[in-house]
Amino acid sequence: MDSIKITGGNPLKGSIPISGAKNAALPLMIAGLLSDRQLVLENVPRLSDVRALTRILGNHGVDITIAGKRKGDAQDGGDTLVINASTIVDTCAPYDLVSTMRASSWVVGPLVARMGECRVSLPGGCAIGTRPVDLHIMALQRLGARIDIEEGYMVARAPKGLKGAEIFFPMVTVGGTHVALMAATLADGTTVIHNAAREPEVVDLADCLNKMGARISGAGTSTIEIKGVPRLNSATHRVVPDRIETGTYAMAVAMTGGDVMLAGADPAHLQAALDVLKKAGAEVSATNEGIRVKRNGQGIDAVDVTTAPFPAFPTDLQAQFMALMTRAKGTSHITETIFENRFMHVSELARLGAKIALRGDLAIVEGVDKLKGAPVMATDLRASVSLVIAGLAAEGVTTVNRVYHLDRGFEALEKKLAACGALIERVRG
Ligand code: EPZ
Repeated sequence: MDSIKITGGNPLKGSIPISGAKNAALPLMIAGLLSDRQLVLENVPRLSDVRALTRILGNHGVDITIAGKRKGDAQDGGDTLVINASTIVDTCAPYDLVSTMRASSWVVGPLVARMGECRVSLPGGCAIGTRPVDLHIMALQRLGARIDIEEGYMVARAPKGLKGAEIFFPMVTVGGTHVALMAATLADGTTVIHNAAREPEVVDLADCLNKMGARISGAGTSTIEIKGVPRLNSATHRVVPDRIETGTYAMAVAMTGGDVMLAGADPAHLQAALDVLKKAGAEVSATNEGIRVKRNGQGIDAVDVTTAPFPAFPTDLQAQFMALMTRAKGTSHITETIFENRFMHVSELARLGAKIALRGDLAIVEGVDKLKGAPVMATDLRASVSLVIAGLAAEGVTTVNRVYHLDRGFEALEKKLAACGALIERVRG
């Protein structure tokens, strides 16, 4: 198995091109199921999660061709997907596919809306929490679908089509909002989603659906209104830049010092995280080109952070921020409110010399003068990249194992960092 070898200590200097957002690209690809006409997605990141979803959608009969290859890309490596779901041959999403990527269970929304029935495996738990889908089911039931749980599958039926309704989410759920939004576009009548997720990826999905002919307003606020249409058309849509990749590299620069332009990034998508970085002592400025992050030799100040739905500080940057705080001057308190088990990086950061105490959903991080390289591994994507950030600042060599987690969500990570002066390489195993 491949690993990433990092020799810490170099500041980062240069420019990092920010890729399209994984968490926007996945629901956008799934939205392709809603229409029998072609959907073209541009700026899709070259990630193993995208390849996995391509295979999963292929099982439903969706034909996806890849264009926009750059020099050096693998055979299947372009950033434009041409999605053609003219014929759905199978409305079953089996467990062995859904378990490889839980977001694929979101197909339940478009499939029941378009086909009137489907059988989709429940995704099960994962490394960061139990992650139930009860609210996805509730939303579809509100739209008139009958959902039975049979042998670990959601069996959804709406033979006469879905009907517009009021949906109240008791808590903010990104996936639940995506599922409700997709399903309601083809429902008969008007749907209002209350307490909708406001994440930029939800806005991106709504923008794309509107280009396909949906009638959605209010995306980006807590109340989204959808006037159902009988069918959707073809469209071309460019995926938004990845705010989590942006925040990750911003924290890496704050950690190592240096001066990096995060090219193509949108500051409005991660204002809370940028504000925290400024408080910690980094210089952050928005330019026409993207976001410039600088840190001089002064070191990093400790800042307290609580994760919460957008526009607050994202859970997907919590591990990376914790890595940064391991070297802060003082003690930082980091509270995780979204997932109950998202501190798996703590014991690995401790292997590098970090001092972190856990009290339920609170991590107390006492900054240390230095970290020392060691072999580490992690159980999820964002935890893995937090170890890369720590390794970039640690003395000596850090080897991050289980690189497949990183490949799910960070395009060309080691190339982007090496181009800015990091001593980082992939070791084929
Ligand atoms: C999305 O997951 C993202 N995944 C996650 O990114 C991200 O961490 C999360 O949103 C929060 O921002 C993708 O976009 C593919 P939720 P999702 O539904 O939709 C509870 C990454 O690293 N809940 O907003 O699954 C749930 O357990 C990943 O890229 C229910 O209780 O997250 C959690 O506590 C990890 N019942 C909270 O809501 C439900 O039916 C928020 O989860 C649904 C959710």
